[in-house]
Amino acid sequence: MTAKLRSEMIIDTHAHLDYSDFDLDRLEILKRAEEAGVTRIISIGTNAVTSSNAVKLAQEHPSVWATVGIHPTEVDEALESDYEILRKLVGERKVAGVGEIGFDYHHLPGKELTPDEAAPLIAQNKVRQEYWFRKQLDLAAEHQFNVVIHQREAWEDTLRVMREYQGKVRGVYHCFGGSYEQAMEVIAMGNLISFTGIITFKNAKQVQETAQRISADHFMVETDCPYLAPVPHRGKRCEPFHTRLVAEKLAELRSVSLDEIARSTSKVAESFFRF
Ligand code: NI
Repeated sequence: MTAKLRSEMIIDTHAHLDYSDFDLDRLEILKRAEEAGVTRIISIGTNAVTSSNAVKLAQEHPSVWATVGIHPTEVDEALESDYEILRKLVGERKVAGVGEIGFDYHHLPGKELTPDEAAPLIAQNKVRQEYWFRKQLDLAAEHQFNVVIHQREAWEDTLRVMREYQGKVRGVYHCFGGSYEQAMEVIAMGNLISFTGIITFKNAKQVQETAQRISADHFMVETDCPYLAPVPHRGKRCEPFHTRLVAEKLAELRSVSLDEIARSTSKVAESFFRF
């Protein structure tokens, strides 16, 4: 954390800045990020309320932008009126994309029930996930926005839907944890990936290999804070300045300078999001 960045600055492309984890020290967090060279932050919406809050934060702070969207684990609570809220929000100043949206088959309903009892709930939830994913992809296409994709244990279904939007909407597969081959599969469809603090973890060999081999035009950096703090902060609250540690790890893995990572990831982010 000593070397000073020359001119290029780092962009945290995925933070949940509106979460209550940051209520007591949000201004200090923005200051710490700035001091570490993390000069722009995208605050990601996960439902109608967090999306509204993200836009509000973006409009209050020059270094913050927002995306708006309903996360796949929020679809059982989502109402049609929430969609109308998103529709209004996408037209607001400082909105940079739609997300996070996608599929999550890890957090499915009915965990407390027997498999037979849970089955219909799970089936219904999956239908709702796809309904909201598609609805928000259409919204993004209509407004010429790109999307932030959340994908967990739902690789095939995510690609099946995204294939239909190829050429219309590009997505960033955020918090990428997969193999180089998987990365190339989504990149071949016009998408990007982004890396979190996971790449600093000891047991993250596969994604570290992806980070070494992938072309610099195809990835961005992020924290997903307050989750996934990189080493040496693992297990603690994550915050946007940690993006610098993700970028430093990438520089080490790829044997390039931190400046070079800052420059390439910022360039990719600037063309992907609407700044
Ligand atoms: Ni997130």
